[in-house]
Amino acid sequence: MNIAVLASGRGTNFEAIAKAVKRGFIRARLKLLITDKENAGVRERAKKFAVKDIFIDPKNFKSRQDFDREVVKILKKEKINLVVLAGFMRIITPYFVRAFKNRILNIHPAILPSFGGVNAIERAYNYGVKVTGVTVHLVDEGIDTGPIILQEALKIREEESLQSLEERIHKLEHRLYPLAVKLFLEGRLKIKGRKVEIKA
Ligand code: GAR
Repeated sequence: MNIAVLASGRGTNFEAIAKAVKRGFIRARLKLLITDKENAGVRERAKKFAVKDIFIDPKNFKSRQDFDREVVKILKKEKINLVVLAGFMRIITPYFVRAFKNRILNIHPAILPSFGGVNAIERAYNYGVKVTGVTVHLVDEGIDTGPIILQEALKIREEESLQSLEERIHKLEHRLYPLAVKLFLEGRLKIKGRKVEIKA
């Protein structure tokens, strides 16, 4: 099985997955990183793990769908089975979702359906919620709306700083995302409408 990660930022989730592949927790090949940001930190991490990385410049495409056509073309050429969005800060088009139906995962740093969209950790913190967390879900045609695979909550501590909360959220992400990828690749996810059952 071949995995591709799509990312736009620092790439700590990319690294968590790369490490999980390296130590055999995920039995698959991490074949490709695609990014839409030329200077994204994740590209350095790809080099470190000798993963091929491709930068696709959004400026070269007239529409989001044209961009996604290029992405899908590359994913197919590389025979990718699973697409892992890890801080990929673009809304992907229905064309892309249909091309990889139920084979695209996303991680979100909040308990969906609360605080979907960008800057979720900060928005949850400023809202004053007492509990937040991390969600891994399948990607459907909406924004952060696909069936939930894994979700875990964190209690916000009294007088906790935003920075401390961010660190704890990321730590949780780095545990949950490799696990979700592993469950997917082992065929242990059973999708029934909005519900995802996890087989033992
Ligand atoms: C992660 O916290 C991820 O949950 C978030 O971007 C960060 C990427 O960090 N994604 C979203 O907010 C998607 N709406 P990373 O580049 O260090 O993996």
